[in-house]
Amino acid sequence: MHIFLDTANFDELRSAAKLGVVSGVTTNPSLMAKENNADLKSVITEIASIIDGPISAEVISLDAAGMIKEARDIAKWSPNVVVKIPITPAGLEATSVLSKEHIKCNLTLCFSPNQALLVALAGAAYVSPFVGRLDDITHDGMQLVTDVVTIYKQYDFSTQVIAASIRHPLHCLSAAKAGAHIATVPYKVLMQMIKHPLTDIGIERFMADWNSISKT
Ligand code: E4P
Repeated sequence: MHIFLDTANFDELRSAAKLGVVSGVTTNPSLMAKENNADLKSVITEIASIIDGPISAEVISLDAAGMIKEARDIAKWSPNVVVKIPITPAGLEATSVLSKEHIKCNLTLCFSPNQALLVALAGAAYVSPFVGRLDDITHDGMQLVTDVVTIYKQYDFSTQVIAASIRHPLHCLSAAKAGAHIATVPYKVLMQMIKHPLTDIGIERFMADWNSISKT
């Protein structure tokens, strides 16, 4: 399973990029608002200079013609850019057109396996099932990821599954076990994935033991 970073924050991206484990980025209008930056083009261009991999930029049009126009423009910003489109009738219509033009689409706000089936049929490169937001309303978000992976395997669809709305490291583990191609994670969760108290204790002991012999 690949790891994408779910952020529009350059400091987080630069810090995570150094680890060599992040192979893409997802953004959305809320993440842009968090950075108080409405210049999507400059943000995506900057991200592309930090991370060499797919970078999702979300359209804000709600009609198919508007989405297509925005997407064609976004697609010119960087060779790695992926256009993020919500799953609506207009979103599917736009995706069908854009996929034929080889513009990669990431269909977002996926909350049901039927939505994911339609996303694959429309030719999208990615689908983003939102795990945390389903958990928030007492639905099993990870079951959605499992169902989508099963359906895509069954019919050999090439659409890749991005486990999104990831809230904690257990979500990452479960997404990997479910066979998601990618999990897009907040920076905080990436750091939590690295951390283990026994690693910290082990380093402390090794250092203490080394110091005890090197000072004699
Ligand atoms: C990623 O593509 C999504 O936009 C993101 O993971 C949503 O996460 P949230 O539910 O924590 O806002």
